Amino acid sequence: MDKPTISAAFSACFAAAPALVVRAPGRINLIGEHTDYNGGLVLPAAIDKAIWLAATPRNDGRFVFFAADLAEYFDSDTDGMGLQASKKWANYLLGVISEARRDGLALGGMNLAFGGDIPLGAGLSSSAALESGMAYALDHLNALGLGKMDLVRLAQRGENNFVGMQCGIMDMFASVMGKAGQVLRLDCRDLAFEYFPFQSEDYCLLLLDSGVKHQLVDSEYNTRRSECEAGVEALRRHAPGIGALRDVSLDMLARHAADLPPVVQRRCRYVVEEMARVEAACAALQAGDFEALGGIMYAGHAGLDAQYEVCVAETNFLVEQARRLGAAGARQMGGGFGGCTINLLKKKDLDMVTEKMSAAYKQAFGLGLVAYPVRIADGVEEGGGWKVEGGGWKVEGGTYVLCHFLGCP
Ligand code: GLA
Repeated sequence: MDKPTISAAFSACFAAAPALVVRAPGRINLIGEHTDYNGGLVLPAAIDKAIWLAATPRNDGRFVFFAADLAEYFDSDTDGMGLQASKKWANYLLGVISEARRDGLALGGMNLAFGGDIPLGAGLSSSAALESGMAYALDHLNALGLGKMDLVRLAQRGENNFVGMQCGIMDMFASVMGKAGQVLRLDCRDLAFEYFPFQSEDYCLLLLDSGVKHQLVDSEYNTRRSECEAGVEALRRHAPGIGALRDVSLDMLARHAADLPPVVQRRCRYVVEEMARVEAACAALQAGDFEALGGIMYAGHAGLDAQYEVCVAETNFLVEQARRLGAAGARQMGGGFGGCTINLLKKKDLDMVTEKMSAAYKQAFGLGLVAYPVRIADGVEEGGGWKVEGGGWKVEGGTYVLCHFLGCP
């Protein structure tokens, strides 16, 4: 998908050119999983896979959406503006509208076509990308004058309050705030953030999509969140100042272990350790020590598996194989129960690892493995060209142009 393709889909649907085209990227997360809703640290980045939205305002207050990849329509006149059971994709758009209205923002209607290349259910936050892109489109078409943080909040509230998934803020934050070639160290307690360059001559990132999409992911996610809250509740009896697991140390957990059911102990321990791993990963990045960073990723995966219990046999297998093939690091990424693993490996090993992993995965599970080498890209923006890490490439209308030679910004 690119600007010309989504513009053409829009024109075919609505018999006019779009007034606005938005590129809203998916995200990766190097480390810091399930820490965002515990007031902790995360290390995500926006990527060169995105949802593209083409839109034009309507003056009759009606919302008409076209999901280009599914060839499905939504029309507020016939479908209403409530939660959609059959067109689940529409809920992500309606949630953002509903929250904008709740803020008293004056919205006109809209014709919208969207589509993209973020694989669904792979842990790359296609829904957050759609929500962030919608927030951006509403802002621009209605001249609301919102700031980037307002877009992040609208997108998250749409998901929490309308779709009903109690996700943290990481995904939307990365989709909106991402910068080419940089990962974001975000403190989810006060939303302070810093960019860290992720650039290496030798190492690259590879996503391996297990193809496993767990039906229970949303309910299990909400359960994990309640377990963490139960831990905080119990510890607060000893230390009333605790607001979230961010304020809890391993020491404190050990001292009050008797007050926490074993499962809550495991969840809390994982989160506290994972927050320390983000700090350690930032230090490794600053030192340019990618092998150390990789070791932290493996440790994160072990915690996700044994303590947080959100891994599946397929992703465990992929991480073990990555280790066997000499990858610096690998771990399951995102909410859990399948989706992608993120692998940090030497560029020279990329083809070898992809081939061997695919063969081993097929043999073990009878499943095809889709591999996505990813690059770190800019956050949500009006469509056109966009930058990716390395600064060497700019994409215009699907054609790759080498900027080094042409002097693009
Ligand atoms: C999902 C959620 C995020 C975050 C991750 C786990 O992607 O949407 O907010 O909690 O899971 O780190």
